[in-house]
Amino acid sequence: MTFNPRLNPYVSKLEEYRDIIKTLPIDSNTDFYDFIRLPNRLILDLGCGAGNFLRDYASIVKQANFIGFELRYKRLVKGAVKLKKRNLINVKLIQARAEDIDLWFANRKVDEIYINFPDPWPKKRHHKHRLMSAVFLNKVRKILNEENGFLVFKTDHKEYFESVVALLQQQMDDFEIVEMSDDLHKSEFKDKNIFTEFESLFKHKGFPVYYLKTKLQLSND
Ligand SMILES: C[S@@+](CC[C@H](N)C(=O)[O-])C[C@H]1O[C@@H](n2cnc3c(N)ncnc32)[C@H](O)[C@@H]1O
Repeated sequence: MTFNPRLNPYVSKLEEYRDIIKTLPIDSNTDFYDFIRLPNRLILDLGCGAGNFLRDYASIVKQANFIGFELRYKRLVKGAVKLKKRNLINVKLIQARAEDIDLWFANRKVDEIYINFPDPWPKKRHHKHRLMSAVFLNKVRKILNEENGFLVFKTDHKEYFESVVALLQQQMDDFEIVEMSDDLHKSEFKDKNIFTEFESLFKHKGFPVYYLKTKLQLSND
């Protein structure tokens, strides 16, 4: 798909942040691949928005590499500006669909995957657009570190959450749910929770946040 920079000024603005924002296929085999080859823990945030969660996490854990996937140019540019200001060199952003993670990490296992408040696509006929699907979980299974890797899913959408729990239970040979809450902010997991931008915005409304953490089942071979 080609974009007209006159229609979206952030498309050309993105060029100023090429050291942080990566796109396919221009950046293949460049510094991005050096970045992911580092032996640090590799942490992904899929649908990262302007990257608040990544910035806060990367400020706490300096010895890890962080990568956010986001489609929207404006959010990516906003995110890159803030990363520069805070001099967080261990965070990169990718302008690509989260569904394509397997293309980016074919040669490297990832350690943590965060899916924070993905678009819930509430109408039944739109459920096929949801990120969390059997096809996507199959890609996760291939790239997630089997030893100590995990995936975290947070949403304010009860029905989406329940469908993901059902999906993981159908795939129990591959995935094990190790933590779960239907009200994260009041749960035993609340102290380690890092708020996302979306989460901060609606916190005062008192809606529950549904949370789960899942790991790969260790294979016996
Ligand atoms: C509801 S917002 C949540 C943003 C952020 N995770 C948070 O919790 O504040 C969902 C984000 O996912 C992005 N998004 C939607 N579909 C996507 C996809 N297929 N791949 C990557 N990002 C996507 C949207 O542009 C948006 O920024």
